[in-house]
Amino acid sequence: MTFHPGTLPDLKGKVFIVTGGNSGIGYYTVAHLAEHGAHVYMCARSPEKGTSAIAGIKKMHPSANIGLLQMDLMDLTSVVAAAKHFLALETALHGLVNNAGIMATPFEMTKDGHEAQWQTNYLAHWVLTEHLLPVMLRTAKTLQPGSVRIVNLTSSGHLGAPKGGINFTDLSLKDGSPWPRYGQSKLANILHTKTLHKMYGPGSPSARDGEGEIWVSAVHPGLVETNIATSVGESGSGLMSVLSVLRLFGLMWPADKGSWTSLFCAASRDMKAEQSGTYFEVFGRFLEPCWQSSAAKDGKLAEKLGEWTGEVTRKEGWVHNISGTSIYTRA
Ligand SMILES: NC(=O)c1ccc[n+]([C@@H]2O[C@H](COP(=O)([O-])OP(=O)(O)OC[C@H]3O[C@@H](n4cnc5c(N)ncnc54)[C@H](OP(=O)(O)O)[C@@H]3O)[C@@H](O)[C@H]2O)c1
Repeated sequence: MTFHPGTLPDLKGKVFIVTGGNSGIGYYTVAHLAEHGAHVYMCARSPEKGTSAIAGIKKMHPSANIGLLQMDLMDLTSVVAAAKHFLALETALHGLVNNAGIMATPFEMTKDGHEAQWQTNYLAHWVLTEHLLPVMLRTAKTLQPGSVRIVNLTSSGHLGAPKGGINFTDLSLKDGSPWPRYGQSKLANILHTKTLHKMYGPGSPSARDGEGEIWVSAVHPGLVETNIATSVGESGSGLMSVLSVLRLFGLMWPADKGSWTSLFCAASRDMKAEQSGTYFEVFGRFLEPCWQSSAAKDGKLAEKLGEWTGEVTRKEGWVHNISGTSIYTRA
């Protein structure tokens, strides 16, 4: 299958949120959505970086309508505050692209008490999504199926998750290398996608009851030239050598092309209902694994992770104000 962002429909009147929009894949995701007329909220942890990225996009597309949502995924208070700020400004949300991420960073715990990659890549996006689901469902209720979508950026790096997929007895994986921590967080993005699809995708109870249908996808964008490798610690030096070789042979994509799969899943008319809930590696490439691990296909594991996340985030107070929409209480 081929896709080019030039084929995106007119997105005037549609509202999107993209996390990690100030850099790399997220930057071009915001740019192409805005180029096609969408009102896009770019999430960035640094207001300076966000403002400068928006100015860069406006230089290319002067009529781009882009707002800034300040949000640090390492700080769940700021995630909840950003979601509430958005909800005070808008009454509709057509697309959420959970794109921000860090890769193989040295071990660190956030002030919320979670391992940094786990929180940044998975948990904070789960909390954000949970806060935005009510407005997305309201938006979807009055529109054609496929008008409202969630895209979770994952990675072929999920293949490096620990044995069994998610280590519920020691989620921080403190004693290992950073790669299983990255793999575990990226596997969680796929399992989250599965759960959202089950609850809200085509044929779900929500869709059947007329409560709103949301199309959901997990995207591995390919090997893309971005800033993500800059945070890789010493243990990632092997990867850096591999990347240098791939670069030499032109096998790393530019960040713009890296955004295309996300854009297809977020807004293309060519996406089909039966593609909701799936793992996308639309532009399969030489040397890149395009298969999922068995853990990524494990429905029971997705359920267990959903239960764990619902319980923990409720106990810690990140989602308790949401009235009756929590996917894990509706099952
Ligand atoms: N590049 C690849 O080859 C590749 C391959 C597979 C999957 N991916 C996935 O693609 C996604 C996008 O990554 P990228 O390659 O475009 O990397 P990138 O250029 O480093 O962009 C990552 C974005 O996430 C933001 N971010 C990181 N930590 C954050 C935090 N605590 N709070 C808020 N924002 C935060 C960054 O903000 P700052 O600018 O402030 O750091 C940046 O905007 C990630 O989920 C990654 O796992 C990438």
